[in-house]
Amino acid sequence: MSNKAKLTVGGKEYEFPLVKGSEEEVAIDIKSLRSVTGGITTLDPGFKNTSSCESAITFLDGEKGILRYRGYSIEDLAEKASFLGVVYLLIFGDLPTEEQLAVFHADIKSKSVVDDDIKKILDAFPKSAHPMGVLSSLTSALTAFNPASVDVSSAEAMYNTVVKILGKFPVLVAWTMRKKQGLPLDYGDNTLGYVENLLKMMFKQPNEEYVPNPIVINALDKLLILHADHEQNCSTSTVRVVGSSHAGLFASISAGISALWGPLHGGANQAVLEMLEAIREDGGDTKKYMAKAKDSNDPFRLMGFGHRVYKNFDPRARIIKVAADEVLADLGIEDPILDIAKALEQEALQDDYFVQRKLYPNVDFYSGIIYRAMGIPVDMFTVMFALGRLPGWIAQWKEMRNKKEPIGRPRQVYTGSNQRSF
Ligand code: CMC
Repeated sequence: MSNKAKLTVGGKEYEFPLVKGSEEEVAIDIKSLRSVTGGITTLDPGFKNTSSCESAITFLDGEKGILRYRGYSIEDLAEKASFLGVVYLLIFGDLPTEEQLAVFHADIKSKSVVDDDIKKILDAFPKSAHPMGVLSSLTSALTAFNPASVDVSSAEAMYNTVVKILGKFPVLVAWTMRKKQGLPLDYGDNTLGYVENLLKMMFKQPNEEYVPNPIVINALDKLLILHADHEQNCSTSTVRVVGSSHAGLFASISAGISALWGPLHGGANQAVLEMLEAIREDGGDTKKYMAKAKDSNDPFRLMGFGHRVYKNFDPRARIIKVAADEVLADLGIEDPILDIAKALEQEALQDDYFVQRKLYPNVDFYSGIIYRAMGIPVDMFTVMFALGRLPGWIAQWKEMRNKKEPIGRPRQVYTGSNQRSF
């Protein structure tokens, strides 16, 4: 293949270089398009054909159903790694040695105290507030308590800001849930592992000793690994664009949380569970809901199905489906909505509408069933996704700042009125 692409506009021919990724993906480098053509741009709503950056963090092949973090397959990582090890891998590029991991964890713990005044902000929210709105606000508020902007040219300053957010974020997650439940807010226990500490902060009753459940700890660890990064998705692109204006890490992540909240993105895990519950209450007639999903006059979509990039099985969904069976069996829970989910999947995989559009279950289809079995309230599901995605957001923000990427500022094709006299 030639290493140039040719474009003809108005009888004039232009050449643009091709850029190749390490997995042989090809992109046309149009950085010079406007200047050489005298103002022509590209139009691509939803960025369906646009690579916004070159990135060395996550590789995704939607046609083959492949997902790798820093070269390691998601299947291997879910089976063999710990969440904190994956956090290190994503942010620093390699799996940590035992010693590196211990130092990293100790540094995170040393920064895990959240200023007590944050509780005053939390007090001001009504109990009806959605946890994602609260979490986004509290993350943004962290900037007020850590006002110094990070010197991105200093590896030490970057490291400090990274461990700070990793230490404080689980506290904000737990506080967001507990405040809504009217329970006292705890500071966690630095003798515990990262995930176990989070679970204790979330679930310890004030009048009972906390008893860790290894099944729940392992299942949550795995779920967080599966959510940890997904290249340039909506929330990650948001984090990179906000950070490209040189806004700080906490502010960029707060924006990412807002982007994740929507039901077409991370909010789908809550929407899936509500949908499955509604089908159950309606008598379990999956065919009726399949018909609604296919009706172009009905806004209903089969939540947890379809993906912008995967046109094959989402590899994360395969792993989560098996985990859902295992976790429910281990915990001795029988949940009728797991059967409804499996029936919907079976019908969709044989249905022309879904087959032609290559719509498969995505990461959100079965995850809510596991969260529910763990005792996590449904409106906290997307918050758990945010906690899992945190390392991805950090790694992508860090990569973008280290590479000195320019401010993200797309163009438009103006379709409004021509000049009018006032
Ligand atoms: N149910 C029914 N029809 C669907 C669905 C669905 N879940 N998803 C896509 N379609 C149809 C859509 O109506 C369109 O049909 P037509 O060509 O006849 O107009 C076609 O499939 C292509 O859909 P699209 O909306 O153009 O595709 P997209 O790449 O812009 O959207 C998506 C991807 C994930 C937003 C979409 O599939 C969707 O809304 N799914 C349900 C929400 C969901 O589960 N989101 C979680 C995504 S994975 C985790 C994450 O990103 O956080």
